[in-house]
Amino acid sequence: MTAPQMPAALRHVPVADLSAADAGAEHAALGAEIAAHDAAYYREDAPLVSDAEYDALRQRYEAIEARFPELKSEDSLSQKVGAAPSEKFGKVVHGVPMLSLANAFADAEVEEFVARVKRFLNLAAEDEVAFTSEPKIDGLSCSLRYVDGRLTVAATRGDGSQGEDVTANVRTIADIPHQLAGRGVPDIIDVRGEVYMAKADFEALNARQEAAQEKVFANPRNAAAGSLRQLDPSITAARPLKFFAYAWGEASSHPAETQLGMVEAFAGWGFATNPLMIRAASAAELLAHYRKIEAQRATLPYDIDGVVYKVDRLDLQRRLGFVSRSPRWAIAHKFPAEQATTVLEDIEIQVGRTGALTPVARLLPVTVGGVVVSSATLHNEDEIARKDVRIGDTVVVQRAGDVIPQVVRVILEKRPDAAAPYDFPHLCPACGSHAVREADIKTGKVDAVRRCTGGLICPAQMVERLRHFVSRNAFDIEGLGEKQVRAFYDWGLIASPADIFTLEERNARSLQRLENRDGWGKTSAANLFAAIAGRRTVAVDRFVFALGIRHVGETNAKRLMRHYGTVEALEAGAMAAVIPGEDHPKGNEAWQEMLAIDGIGDVVAEAVIEFFHEPRNREVVAALLAQVRPAPMEQVAAESPVAGQTIVFTGSLEKMTRDEAKAMAERLGAKVAGSVSAKTGLVVAGPGAGSKLEKAQALGVKVITEDEWFELVG
Ligand code: IVH
Repeated sequence: MTAPQMPAALRHVPVADLSAADAGAEHAALGAEIAAHDAAYYREDAPLVSDAEYDALRQRYEAIEARFPELKSEDSLSQKVGAAPSEKFGKVVHGVPMLSLANAFADAEVEEFVARVKRFLNLAAEDEVAFTSEPKIDGLSCSLRYVDGRLTVAATRGDGSQGEDVTANVRTIADIPHQLAGRGVPDIIDVRGEVYMAKADFEALNARQEAAQEKVFANPRNAAAGSLRQLDPSITAARPLKFFAYAWGEASSHPAETQLGMVEAFAGWGFATNPLMIRAASAAELLAHYRKIEAQRATLPYDIDGVVYKVDRLDLQRRLGFVSRSPRWAIAHKFPAEQATTVLEDIEIQVGRTGALTPVARLLPVTVGGVVVSSATLHNEDEIARKDVRIGDTVVVQRAGDVIPQVVRVILEKRPDAAAPYDFPHLCPACGSHAVREADIKTGKVDAVRRCTGGLICPAQMVERLRHFVSRNAFDIEGLGEKQVRAFYDWGLIASPADIFTLEERNARSLQRLENRDGWGKTSAANLFAAIAGRRTVAVDRFVFALGIRHVGETNAKRLMRHYGTVEALEAGAMAAVIPGEDHPKGNEAWQEMLAIDGIGDVVAEAVIEFFHEPRNREVVAALLAQVRPAPMEQVAAESPVAGQTIVFTGSLEKMTRDEAKAMAERLGAKVAGSVSAKTGLVVAGPGAGSKLEKAQALGVKVITEDEWFELVG
């Protein structure tokens, strides 16, 4: 996912100089951008920008709202925390919302925080108020419910009022007691704190992931979030997660009257608490502690991104209360991003496994915050243009807690005369296919990312494409998963889909037989060849889906093939089509024909046409057609008990993924919808089903469990 780009010109105007109209436009654009970042960070565990850049967006957004309060509304982002919980998990409603913290960056803001607290409490400036100070751990917050001392439910923060049910996963974290021991344990208490991964554990995990050719994580925070938000608790169990307790939500009683006392009580009950937490009596003491922690930051075993100050007395906290999304009694003092200046020697374009072209700055090595940096991300083409980054420029680079450093800006005075604006390549550096920026299927906005169109021929994308090709809803070849595909590719046995079907014949003639290779034997090789042979006929819609054309998922493949019938007809239609442009504002007849298919819009049509216009893609399809005979589309079983019904799946499914559930229902002639209405025929509800289940019950729609679903459809 990519974040929409802001109108760049406006951002350089000080908020004080913005006109109301410009402020409105920028507020809306910033809101959309922040929401996209929130979704990437909280739901995908894959942030698009550094924390420092995100904070800068938020600060500007809030500054605009402060000057133009009329822009604030119920659903303004400044009233929100995090992102709505993912559909993958059951939902947990927090008894007491899980809020966020306001940020301070400069010493003066900390002094102002202390003064504000005193003013609010009607105290004189010289009166003393005690605060606590502790590291801000860079992980993800989690709320743990204990009833009679026993852990019952664990939830992520989610959007602050509803989080994701991660109980089974949390039970695998050694730092988190299943049973609280010691004095003063309330009947009910939500203990809150941070799940994190230690730096050394993160490095070791990434090394293991890399060796197993699995996803590597950008930083410990993402690794922790990705590990906790797993559907399979055994994966979480294998990841070295840790936990610090530092806060609480609902509590039937409180074991102490101060913040420090509460945290000491947590330690007494068996929780890990942060050893660097102190009590301080003034802003000066808080700032001194901040400096001390900042000096230790690089050598701490875990990542931190600042220091948190809290009013110590709980009665004062209650009086101070909350403002929008954060408590008035606490603030996060963030560390500044660490920066350095160096020379950008080259811009290299990397091709990701989905074909995204990412520019990377090659830098003259420089030390930033104790780490030698020799490359930095430039995000995308627009970012290079916006910052006007040129090869040979002297640039400011920054590390902001994350592992991937960023190029912040160019020092123009140092630009060599010969430095020319950077021309972003329009051809994929890995395979030479043309690379395009397409419009977003929903918003119509042009994507910031340029992508290679040569999916089936591009070495950077090949393994991913082959994996898709053999996957369950495509060719569904048993015994040929991601691991095997990668091995076959590395061994030089499969470099294109058609190679799968010539594997047996080539193997028979080969000196190094598959059955003698690592991980293979006579039986497994024979089974694989049998599975491949069984797929020499495959429904034509699966065939088209398997090609991995952008935006052509199962549904669109069906739509296309219901119309064209054969791969040859689809190809001919695509080849004849002219995408609308200056010369042909409405395209041509073949374009209109494709667009007239119910459910096919111009983004999908364009992707299909682009695909077939790449000659090497046509070669791949032709080679495949020489091996495989596409059969008419799969017919819906006439006796299907759910044919014609609209089905909604909700809650967490345990025996099938959502994709599988959807595909299964559609194969049986049902329609799958995302929300419950009077038209819904059946709701399949897993654990943690929330509002959809309630609505179904209110409307009297039939609700069944996942097991009952399997019984029903056999
Ligand atoms: S106190 C009512 N203490 O920072 C606020 N938060 O920006 C309770 N965090 O969501 C939070 N270390 O994930 C608190 N020592 C600490 C923290 C901490 C990290 C995170 C937490 C929270 C976010 C707020």
